[in-house]
Formats: sequence, structure tokens, C-alpha cells
Amino acid sequence: MTKHAAFLDRDGTLVRDPGYLARASDVALLPGAGEAIRRLNESGVRVIVVTNQSGIGRGYYSEADFKSVQAEIDRQLKTEGARIDATYFCPHDPTLHKCECRKPGLELYRRAEHEQGVQTAGSWFVGDRAHDVSPAEALGGHGLLVAGPDGTFDEPVPAGSERVEDLASAVDRILGSVTPRGRPFQVAVLVSGSGSNLQALIDRFSDPAVLPRVEICLVISSRPDNRALERAKAAGIPTAVVPDDEGSEEWMTERLEACGAQLVVLAGYMRLIPRGLVAAWSGRMLNVHPALLPAFGGKGMYGQRVHEAVLESGTQVTGVTVHLVDEEYDQGPVVAQWSVPVVEGDDADALAARVLKVEHRLLPSVVAAVAEGTCLLGPDGARWIEPLASGEDRLREIT
Ligand code: GAR
Repeated sequence: MTKHAAFLDRDGTLVRDPGYLARASDVALLPGAGEAIRRLNESGVRVIVVTNQSGIGRGYYSEADFKSVQAEIDRQLKTEGARIDATYFCPHDPTLHKCECRKPGLELYRRAEHEQGVQTAGSWFVGDRAHDVSPAEALGGHGLLVAGPDGTFDEPVPAGSERVEDLASAVDRILGSVTPRGRPFQVAVLVSGSGSNLQALIDRFSDPAVLPRVEICLVISSRPDNRALERAKAAGIPTAVVPDDEGSEEWMTERLEACGAQLVVLAGYMRLIPRGLVAAWSGRMLNVHPALLPAFGGKGMYGQRVHEAVLESGTQVTGVTVHLVDEEYDQGPVVAQWSVPVVEGDDADALAARVLKVEHRLLPSVVAAVAEGTCLLGPDGARWIEPLASGEDRLREIT
């Protein structure tokens, strides 16, 4: 079971919020909430409700009323095969009592961490109010702000959080970045050439005893005849070749969706990714580039040309960048970089070989970190919960 939890707000996120919900007979799960929680349960993500209940402190209802509401929520969830693992609440009236347990205070999350054996870093904080999700920033988690009852977003999005439509979309987002129990993290790899980075991924994840478990579910090649496809076939990985026609965006969208990929990795893929596909995979598509972006990147900067430009510039340091893909070549947010020295007497081949060795270490390490949830990806960039095992996550010197 993952040590990560989904910390859910209750009123307005899980159940309808009539304002100071006090009676079991008023409990109504929001549409899709039961199924969303069941999916979390099945994936091994702990479901912990954290809720402000100032109605108790204000004297509008008692703790016993709160518990009967909770029992009714549990009962309704049970009929959908879902369960809440633990509930924490703050009963205080903020006008009388300044406490640390009322959200956005962190006390209840810290208590849950201690008592439930979960880790707040890397966990998800879901709710319809800014104060439900803002603790994510302080605790190293990821906030998912759901829309209000009429589907509008009135609340500001705090740092470290993003907007999602509802609890079901929040769970899609969570499960897109966590390995469901028993099933390896699914990665699709896009290639064009020799596929040595693909091979590095195959080698790193081929042993099922090595954690995290990652499965390359599909290799898509921009060309029908290259070494990368041979490598994929030799490893028994399904392959597909991009058709050379107008419909390739639609084709690619369908193939990636059907293969169940949770992450797409461009490993030496030399075509621009169509806009629609970038949008659909925003925050879930990585590229490896053989230089320290933003230097030596952009249209026309690929393969040997990158290394020739590096040598021509006279710089003494180059490196490898893994970054999120956006609509432009090599421009999305940087996820990790390792540097590589340029050595006296280098030609492009010698430099390329030195850089490639580092690519073969960095790319699988980043994929592993995403699969195990120590690197959280989002449309705006990556958040590192733990640095890569072998060093710093951003910039590391390799000699
Ligand atoms: C790698 O060096 C990769 O960084 C580069 O193509 C090579 C593919 O090698 N990608 C780019 O230049 C992207 N702009 P491989 O096919 O042996 O993995």
C-alpha cells in the first residue's frame, strides 16, 4: 500500500453542503463521489477526511450529531463499495478559539500522519475551498481544488494546487500519478532513432522484483525501420508506427489512451507533438534533451547538431535535461538536469557518447521517481518530494 493519502474535505467536496450539515437525513453524496472513493480504496491510496466543524463550537449541533452524519456517510459509501479510512475534525468556533486544527492549520494532517502511518509529503489535498488545499504547499503535497456546486471556481488557487472539476476528476489526477496496487506504472515511449534511451528504460525496469514497478506498455516510432523498434520487439513490447498522414494526432491520441499509459516519454522522438496531444497529456509527457536547456535547444537542435553547437560555443559544461513537453521544441518546464563536462579535444561523437551515458541514467531515474510519487508532475512543472537517490534532483555534476 502506498504511504500517500488523499486528504478530502467533507462538505461541498464529498457530500452536498446545505450549510452546517447536522442531520443524517440531510446527507447526500455528491454525484460520482462514491465511485471516486472506491477507486482510491482499490488503488491503495488511503482516504482521510479532514473537516472544519465549527457548528459544534458555535452550539448549532453536537459532536453526537456530527458522528451520526459521519455514520450515514459511511453507510451510503458502503452501498457503493467505498470506505473512508479515517476522519479528523476541528470542532472549534474560530471567533472564540484560536486553534491549529482548523484548516488551513496543519495539526489534523500531522496527527493523521502520525496515527495512520501515511506521509503528507506527496499526498493529495482535495477540497472546494482554498483552505482545504493550501496545506499542500506547507506539507509538500499536491492540492486539487474542486469547483463549487454550480461548477464555478470562486476560490483563488493557492500555490502548489491546481483546479479540477470535481472529486472524480481529482481521483483521475491522483491515480494518473500513482501506481494502482499490483499493477506496474504504465509508460508509453516515443522514439525515432537508435533507441538507446528506450533500452536504458527497458533494462532499468525489466526485473519485476525491482521497485518501483514500471511497464512500457507501448513504443510508438515516427519511422517504420529503426533500431528502436527492434529493441522494443526484442523486449516483447507492443509497437506502432505513426502513419504519415493528416490524421496522426487523432491516431496517436487513440493509441495512447487505449494502451493505458500514465506517462508518455519522448526518448529521441524527432517530431513536434501536435497541440491537441500536448494539451491532453499536459503534465504527463516528458522529453529528454542532450544539453542543459534552455541552452542548445529548439527547432533543428537535435542529435549531433546539439553537440556540434556546444563545441562551437566554447562552453565547458553541457549536460542532459528531462523536461515536460509543451507546444514548442524543448521549451517545457525543466524536471531534472545533470551536467556533463566538455573535455579538451572533444569532437561531437566523443561528447555525444559522454552525454548519452548520462541520459541513460537520468531518464530512467526520473521515470522511477514519477512512478513512485517522489516527483509529482503537473502542467506547470515538477515538484520533488525526495531528491533522486543518487544526488540532487536539479543539477548534478557527472564526470
Ligand atoms: C538522445 O541523445 C536524445 O537526447 C536526443 O536524441 C537522442 C536519441 O538517442 N533527443 C533530442 O535531441 C531531442 N531534441 P536514442 O535514440 O539512442 O535514445
